[in-house]
Amino acid sequence: MYRSHTCGELNASHINTEVTLAGWVQKTRDKGFMIWVDLRDRYGITQLIFDEQRTAIDVFEKAKTLGREFVIQVKGTIIERESKNKNIATGDIEILVSELHILNEAKLPPFTIEDETDGGEDIRMKYRYLDIRRNPVKNNLLFRHNVAMEVRKYLSNQGFCEVETPYLIKSTPEGARDFVVPSRMNEGQFYALPQSPQTFKQLLMVGGMDKYFQIVKCFRDEDLRADRQPEFTQIDCEMAFVEQEDILNMFEGLTRHLLKEVKGLEVAKFPRITYDYAMKTYGNDKPDIRFGMKFGELNEVAQHKDFGVFNSAELVVGISVPGCASYTRKQIDELIDWVKRPQVGASGMVYCKYETDGSLKSSVDKFYDQEDLKKWAEVTGAQPGDLILVLSGPANKTRTQLSALRMELGNRLGLRKPEEFAPLWVVDFPLLEWDEESERYHAMHHPFTSPKPEDIHLIDSNPGAIRANAYDMVLNGNEIGGGSIRIHDKGLQAKMFELLGFTKEEAENQFGFLMNAFQFGAPPHGGLAFGLDRLVAILGGQETIRDFIAFPKNNNGRDVMIDAPSTIDVKQLDELHIQLK
Ligand code: AMO
Repeated sequence: MYRSHTCGELNASHINTEVTLAGWVQKTRDKGFMIWVDLRDRYGITQLIFDEQRTAIDVFEKAKTLGREFVIQVKGTIIERESKNKNIATGDIEILVSELHILNEAKLPPFTIEDETDGGEDIRMKYRYLDIRRNPVKNNLLFRHNVAMEVRKYLSNQGFCEVETPYLIKSTPEGARDFVVPSRMNEGQFYALPQSPQTFKQLLMVGGMDKYFQIVKCFRDEDLRADRQPEFTQIDCEMAFVEQEDILNMFEGLTRHLLKEVKGLEVAKFPRITYDYAMKTYGNDKPDIRFGMKFGELNEVAQHKDFGVFNSAELVVGISVPGCASYTRKQIDELIDWVKRPQVGASGMVYCKYETDGSLKSSVDKFYDQEDLKKWAEVTGAQPGDLILVLSGPANKTRTQLSALRMELGNRLGLRKPEEFAPLWVVDFPLLEWDEESERYHAMHHPFTSPKPEDIHLIDSNPGAIRANAYDMVLNGNEIGGGSIRIHDKGLQAKMFELLGFTKEEAENQFGFLMNAFQFGAPPHGGLAFGLDRLVAILGGQETIRDFIAFPKNNNGRDVMIDAPSTIDVKQLDELHIQLK
């Protein structure tokens, strides 16, 4: 038996008990006649005491040799501590050690294994297993486990069955590039790693599984950001004989369950907004609605007043920043520089201070009088004391720029509170989006998404205007899930591939298996997938998913700990029939 207890569970009620503990040496304090050791395991820290008077001399001498992160086992008696530590659960007691076994020595770790470490990101990634010993990382992994457990519990209770689908598959188009795996047994042929189990879950519906879910790895070769990893995990779900409303209710229920179980929060019914409304009001299809600053379109009240910049713009749009009329010229100039950075790309910004005395002062007073500016305040919802910021230009671009500014100000003003949760649904996404580069339509969600029946008549005349039965769940400005009602009719699916520029042969070659399946009685079906990493990070009050993944990749898609990707030897390449240039 390596241990009778963990390092997190002993307290005053155990005084005088004999215990055996095992763990890592967090810290030693050697006072000459007395040595204290903080012993750590996953569950906490327990103080050990070695005392010249009370400890056998060989044990005492051995204790002197202990270094940080040595793995040890101790036997001893629990005694009351003289100076108690109220900050930890075991702070009332310590263990007077009678036996000490060094199970493994340890090299000095390259950074301190403490909550506040001295190690930078790179070194901690290289020694991730040491980083995992630290509470912040360890607790994130435990938190992730709790969320995953609650997901499984909820979905199983609702009759969902977890089914595993293969990782070595044929490419599924979800908008990113595939990672591919060469086949040794089939020369010149490749598997693709799934971007999602999309087609398989639809086939499970044809197979009559009715309610499927899977907590599953997905692989996408795309540019990385704080909320994206090349391999990430989805809570992938599909249901048969459902309409959009059934799906929204089911997964709103799941999210509500998670907020309650892991955060102790009761949330009201999720608001639903359309994609068009989201874009017009927040310039963004994943709005953070924890704060206001809704867009006010100013074309009507700001054009035709001799201000050329606005007059020639497709869109003039502003936000009212609460309480910021007192900003100095310097602060405003800094904001103007911020929107002009290439990452945002605005050519300039107009401002108007709604002073607390009710007067309005703008950077374009030459063109607008108080009456005009009052209208700006009305449209943007500004109150005395607020600062109105206005951008203009091509509609889509300007909305995106103002959205970036809105989020930046939300952060700066502390309006994006990590422990506040504001989920919502964004519905009625367009079915297609036009791609300027390839001059053709792409599926906005994926090619299996069903158009809204009332829009199908537009399929030949104006396909760009067709709305889809597609929805995203948004939480605190992040898309945490998305899905759709699927096409279950072979003819409509073929038409969809045609719209997306697939020839009949290409469609047959890539998706013949799905269209064939649809000939054998496909039920109406639909579903969605949550990004588990994102969901967990946001519920944990953060946005960087790396911190919630045990062994993540860095921004170049590298695992610096195992040094992957890496070259393989010539023999392996030969077996795979691959010749490098
Ligand atoms: P979608 O592509 O929207 O839909 O993905 C679903 C959710 O997965 C998360 N996600 C990611 N998380 C981390 N890193 C990434 N690279 C990454 N890419 C996506 C997001 C997203 O909302 N098959 C469909 C679902 C369906 O239609 O049922 C799909 O994969 O949180």
